[in-house]
Amino acid sequence: MSVAEDLAGRFRALWDELAPIGRDGHSGGYLRYALTEPELRLRAWFREQADGRGMPVTDDGNGNLFAWWGDPEAGDAVLTGSHFDSVPHGGAYDGPLGVVSAFLAVDELRAAGATPARPVVVGAFVEEEGARFGVPCLGSRLLAGEIDVDRAAGLRDSAGVSFAEALGGRPAGRRPDLLGRFAAFVELHVEQGRALVEAGAPVAVASAIWPHGRWRFDFHGEGNHAGTTRMADRRDPMLTYAFTVLAANKEARLRGAHATVGRVSVAPNATNAIPSRVTGWLDARAAEPETLTGLVDAVHAKAADRARRDGTEVTLTEESATPLVAFDGGLAGRLAALLDAPVLPTGAGHDAGVLAAHLPTAMLFVRNPTGVSHSPAESATDADCAAGVTALARVLVELACR
Ligand code: GLV
Ligand code: MN
Ligand code: MN
Ligand code: MN
Repeated sequence: MSVAEDLAGRFRALWDELAPIGRDGHSGGYLRYALTEPELRLRAWFREQADGRGMPVTDDGNGNLFAWWGDPEAGDAVLTGSHFDSVPHGGAYDGPLGVVSAFLAVDELRAAGATPARPVVVGAFVEEEGARFGVPCLGSRLLAGEIDVDRAAGLRDSAGVSFAEALGGRPAGRRPDLLGRFAAFVELHVEQGRALVEAGAPVAVASAIWPHGRWRFDFHGEGNHAGTTRMADRRDPMLTYAFTVLAANKEARLRGAHATVGRVSVAPNATNAIPSRVTGWLDARAAEPETLTGLVDAVHAKAADRARRDGTEVTLTEESATPLVAFDGGLAGRLAALLDAPVLPTGAGHDAGVLAAHLPTAMLFVRNPTGVSHSPAESATDADCAAGVTALARVLVELACR
């Protein structure tokens, strides 16, 4: 068996431990919402993996876990890792691949007898997807002090449980004492598009993350009887909502941007009642901040104009916003040369995007043959995952062992 096959086999053995956790038997996708039972099992698995390697675990009081290899006093650490939580019916790789690869990269360094000059820390961030509490990268935002602690504590899931309740206490918020001990962060992630398939390469280095955000449109009208209300007398917020979805698509296409309405809630949600309220969440992303702002403003203006014509009302609330992230160009170039890997921008958000404002940060992407993500169809071969681990191990030698 070759060295690469051996590593792919060890990847598969660890991966199979996680595979059943939170898997939906019908869709084949994952329901691993932050701090719910499946994600708590993944967190317990993280602690077992850390214990098995003699890596003490720090909980930062925000729900993020950090496992330390090497003398914590030996200097500022190199952090690597990702997240366990998923979107509804998400893929297996988005998040967990970065955590599993981080532990395996530590194993590679140890097996090679590498002596870290500074600690290597494996991290798992909480609520990266924002699928439970609405704000993506909640854990890294809290650690970095980029979200108000009271706001974060009071975010509620669809059952009314607050983040503070799920966490078992008020989040600690900004931890300069901990963040200041990280010299660099490297997040390995499955690619969420087809660039690596097209490039014929197993691994890439990230250059930038598009600015992006989430906006909630609330459309209010008049709930009424579907059979007895004349068409001319209706104030139907579903019409305003539907028009707004089409407008978002059109405005995004015109600008070369991305707009998605993937979540909607309707009240009272009855087949035979005109709705009284429709709420739709717009996810919008663009390469440049001005394009993103122009897109959201244009969609809002069109929604408001249409609401006047429908006799409805619309309000817009920004739920989260992430500015353009340009990863440390020097670091990205160094890693791309080290790995002989292409350098790519992405439209997907990551904890690395939040931490990039605070410390030198890089990302590695692993090829995804389907190019699909946030879906059960997301994929990666064991051989490419092993190539990702090897790349990450080389990066850790470069950053932590010299
Ligand atoms: C997170 O995965 C996002 O980009 O939505
Ligand atoms: Mn994701
Ligand atoms: Mn992710
Ligand atoms: Mn993400």
